[in-house]
Amino acid sequence: MTTIWTCKSTAALEREAWGHDPDAAVRPLRRTLTALNLIALGVGGIIGAGIFVLTGHAAATNAGPAVTLSYLLGAVACAFAGLCYAEMAAAVPVSGSAYTYAYATLGELVAWIIGWDLILEYAVGAIAVAIGWSGYVVSFTRDLGLAIPDRFAAAPLAYDAATHSWSATGAIVNLPAMIVIVGISALLVGGARQSARFSGVMVVLKLVVIALFLTLAAPAVSSANWVTASNPAGAYIPPAQGFGVFGWSGVVRGAAVVFFAYIGFDALSTAVQEAKAPTRDVPIGILGSLVICTGLYMAVGYVLTGIVPFDRLNVPDPIAVGIDAAGVRWLAPFIKLGIIFGLTSVILLMLLAQPRIFRAMAHDGLLPAIAAKIHPRLHTPYIATIATGAVVTVLAGLLPIGLVGELVSIGTLFAFVVVSIGVLVLRLTEPTLPRPFRAPAIWLVAPAGALTSLFLMIGLPLDTWVRLAVWLAAGLAIYAVYGRRHSRLRRDAEAGP
Ligand code: ALA
Repeated sequence: MTTIWTCKSTAALEREAWGHDPDAAVRPLRRTLTALNLIALGVGGIIGAGIFVLTGHAAATNAGPAVTLSYLLGAVACAFAGLCYAEMAAAVPVSGSAYTYAYATLGELVAWIIGWDLILEYAVGAIAVAIGWSGYVVSFTRDLGLAIPDRFAAAPLAYDAATHSWSATGAIVNLPAMIVIVGISALLVGGARQSARFSGVMVVLKLVVIALFLTLAAPAVSSANWVTASNPAGAYIPPAQGFGVFGWSGVVRGAAVVFFAYIGFDALSTAVQEAKAPTRDVPIGILGSLVICTGLYMAVGYVLTGIVPFDRLNVPDPIAVGIDAAGVRWLAPFIKLGIIFGLTSVILLMLLAQPRIFRAMAHDGLLPAIAAKIHPRLHTPYIATIATGAVVTVLAGLLPIGLVGELVSIGTLFAFVVVSIGVLVLRLTEPTLPRPFRAPAIWLVAPAGALTSLFLMIGLPLDTWVRLAVWLAAGLAIYAVYGRRHSRLRRDAEAGP
């Protein structure tokens, strides 16, 4: 088993980052991973703040008990896009993130757009998970009688998407969220390999926590808990109160929000060159881990909304609220600790990947070369890691999780759309390219991947779209001013043959 976790942490994610390492393309990778290894790898990378935090937010504000359906819908989009990721990863000779695949196949501009967009998945994703981590730390320390003052445990502003308004929470800053980012960034500057090895243990802990929660809370489930002020009849799908707030549109928006919980399976596609039988095992790995996570997520959503009325779940630690309601309060500290460790591993992997994507972009001349600088002794991309850590720390202290989670979801869904379309374009433009893994029924799977992702994006609030548009526009402006002029391709072209 050690091989799997080590592989996830060091080989898969580091390679994702070191995609442009000149040795990477020539160094053969050992094919050691079986289908089961791949499933374990996927499950480990997927479970995090989505299930432990956003389930409560989506149930309370969008879908009610039908958050289980939201999870199902999110899984469908991931399954199609996942197959496309697998084909792209297998077809491109260097391993890497969606950025490196796009660079190799779709050109510099599309690669830049994806790379810039991936900041939303990794850096902003780390912010979201850190806020979730903070919620459980606050709850855990409260159990121990060491209350962290509210003023230092939440974002100063809350955002209400329904009224498009910000309001003061009375808090000053989310200090635990900032501390965890500083700590993990420091570990990563010191050396990724050591720190990433812990993630294997943490994955097991996450699964134990979910199993315990389901086993102990399930007997207390009752549909009587579906009744709330906004759902007096106790319907499974509460009556709509406007687009995205309950009703079917709420289920769709809920799916877009909890889609965050599935992020991470795309990292599995980076292990394609280490699979023993990629054609068979990679789809099994992607679909298998998705099926397992979907089952677990739907079960947690069902049990949680069955033991606590959903209007009480918009809290930073909904699973803890569920444990209290199930009458097994003694278990709460253990479960919370398990969740805290589980979330730590997700933050670690996100903060491991981001600087390495920056490094690949800097290597291609799209970002200043300093972002690719490696520490002579520690062998880590320390400048990019510190810069990422600094920005993420500040934002984790100030932003509310709902807003951040939606931004991560829309950013990742956008990457799915581009990758799904990209795979199809590549089939047309490079029909003879060797593809160790070919997605089945590509003319169905790729458009379905793009359309289902787009459908979920449509479920997100207009404000989130505007934020994505502003983000992409800023990215294009940076490309026009910097990347296009400094790019390696341009330099090579100017240097002549
Ligand atoms: N899927 C990861 C999580 O839920 C990002 O934390």
